[in-house]
Amino acid sequence: MRSRIETRKIVAAIVLLVTASVLACEKKETADFKPEILPLPQPLARYEAMEVPADNPTTPDKAALGRQLFFDKRLSGDESRSCYSCHVCEHGLTDGLPKAIGAFNKQLPRSSPTLWNIGYHKMFYWDGRSPSLEKQAMAAWQLGNMGAKDHEADILAKINGLQGYRSQFQKVFGGEATAENIMQALSAFERTIISGETAWDRWQAGDQSAASDSAKRGWDVFKEAKCNNCHDGVLLTDQQFHNVGIGMDAAEPDKGRFSATKKDEDTGAFKTPTLRDIAKSAPYFHDGSVATLEDAVDLMLGGGKPNQYLDKKNIEKRTITPEQRRDLLEFLKSLTVDCRISEPPLPKK
Ligand code: HEC
Ligand code: HEC
Repeated sequence: MRSRIETRKIVAAIVLLVTASVLACEKKETADFKPEILPLPQPLARYEAMEVPADNPTTPDKAALGRQLFFDKRLSGDESRSCYSCHVCEHGLTDGLPKAIGAFNKQLPRSSPTLWNIGYHKMFYWDGRSPSLEKQAMAAWQLGNMGAKDHEADILAKINGLQGYRSQFQKVFGGEATAENIMQALSAFERTIISGETAWDRWQAGDQSAASDSAKRGWDVFKEAKCNNCHDGVLLTDQQFHNVGIGMDAAEPDKGRFSATKKDEDTGAFKTPTLRDIAKSAPYFHDGSVATLEDAVDLMLGGGKPNQYLDKKNIEKRTITPEQRRDLLEFLKSLTVDCRISEPPLPKK
């Protein structure tokens, strides 16, 4: 008899405990959104220090918030695009299209560039017209890419209506989401998009087994062919603007850097792209006019495309053997990045 009562009590206690913990769990899920916070990446020792604006230091909480926003289609005017839509891992942080297609299916005039190591850049866009990541993000959000311009108030209300975002904005910025602090969070996340160690980096750091002999020879070919006149340094870009003739034969050529500076000599000049992850980012060039890496390399080896503004000081025709060409391509493939950028859980309430 006694033991029967004991058993009943125990059973009742267990039932109570289980119910209570289930309730607690449910309550937790609806009340607290748990952002996935990652440690900030460690750049390679060979990189210079990144210049970060004094009013927007990168913190793990802010980068985590920025990562969610980067993946959140609710930021775009028609909820069809996130930043990630056009800067995806599989395509070397580009979109695989010749020219990007923005929210409301708007055809954009240029190809999506890669974002690897973008925090080290000082001028943004193919023509360098934007001076900071924060300003670039604002333009990408308001204009054709995300099409938010006529929908800003609605989008901000939507973000602020989500408790999961509200608590993070409160914690990171001490207030609610605004267009400005959304761009700050996005930029903080972008400063963590560091390409890390490619086979080439590991080899350069002394690991002889990291790259194939062909890739190693290809690195010499790259330097002998003076590709590093422009694709220079550890970032493989001098961050300068050069006319190599792409698209200059179009009926109305994209004037590139000229549109930012109005200097005649900048006509048809574009920012030297990094070559990190280049094997994945086809099609190539600012207008996506070349489908394969082989053809893009041949065009550069050929000295670019002749036109009145060609940067003849830095590029000329280079004749190399088929074997050297193979090696050069192997070197470019050794710059492939192991992309670890993934979609985090996004606030639903
Ligand atoms: C519809 C596709 C699309 C979407 C969406 C998009 N981008 Fe881009 N992005 C592009 C294109 C195209 C360019 C180049 C435009 C130019 O040079 O005129 C670009 C350029 C950039 C650059 C400059 C890269 C460089 O080398 O200077 C950054 C940074 C960037 N985007 C970040 C973002 C962020 C942040 C968002 C979200 C707010 C975003 N992008 C959304 C297509 C897109
Ligand atoms: C005069 C400077 C200069 C030199 C020298 C140069 N490049 Fe480039 N490269 C550029 C510029 C600028 C672009 C972008 C042009 C555009 O899109 O209009 C580019 C684009 C590329 C692209 C396509 C990148 C992309 O993201 O679409 C590849 C691949 C490339 N170069 C490889 C090479 C190789 C290999 C060499 C050596 C044979 C070389 N380049 C020499 C300036 C240069």
